[in-house]
Amino acid sequence: MQKARCEPGLFLWTRRDDEAGNAPTLFPLRAPSRYAWGSPTVDDRLMTNPVQPHGQLTVRTIAMPADTNANGDIFGGWVMSQMDQAGGIAGVERAQGRVVTVKVDAMTFLAPMKVGDVLEVYTEVERIGRTSMQIQIEAFAQRFQTTLREKVTFATFTFVAVDDKGRPRPIPQAG
Ligand SMILES: CC(C)(COP(=O)(O)OP(=O)(O)OC[C@H]1O[C@@H](n2cnc3c(N)ncnc32)[C@H](O)[C@@H]1OP(=O)(O)O)[C@@H](O)C(=O)NCCC(=O)NCCS
Repeated sequence: MQKARCEPGLFLWTRRDDEAGNAPTLFPLRAPSRYAWGSPTVDDRLMTNPVQPHGQLTVRTIAMPADTNANGDIFGGWVMSQMDQAGGIAGVERAQGRVVTVKVDAMTFLAPMKVGDVLEVYTEVERIGRTSMQIQIEAFAQRFQTTLREKVTFATFTFVAVDDKGRPRPIPQAG
């Protein structure tokens, strides 16, 4: 199969050469093409070099119009709050009880989320201290009405296990 290219319209098309020597045919690869419009390299990248998530899928939710900024893109803060929630879920499971967020490392947004994309947040506990733990969190956009995934952002969150008075408590050993 040859490299995909963007044609005006609803679909991306790709060319397939007939092994019997007939004329090559174009067939639709996926729809819709709004993410590739004017930028076919975006979809080329998704198709030929997909970035695989690390860790466990912890939160999966859809980006809605209420979550957009004035440009029509999804607020970075909305994505970040979903990541915080996912980290909280993973943190509570590992700490076997209440945790609080104490730190978020620098966060870089690699690509925009759009309305209708499905946000997928993956978590992986990276380091465990006495009462704190670092969780690597990655956010992916499953693009609207496709199965294509693109990494949107990532960061390391630090959570602290706390007791019912909000004081740090030791994290139990695993297992
Ligand atoms: C998290 C909190 C309980 C820690 O209290 P504290 O008095 O600083 O506790 P300690 O100094 O004993 O530190 C506890 C652990 O947190 C870690 N920690 C504290 N501040 C940190 C920071 N800024 N960055 C990274 N780790 C930090 C410490 O290294 C320690 O880890 P360890 O036990 O694994 O070695 C307290 O800072 C707090 O309640 N913060 C607000 C949390 C919150 O409300 N989050 C939601 C915001 S909307």
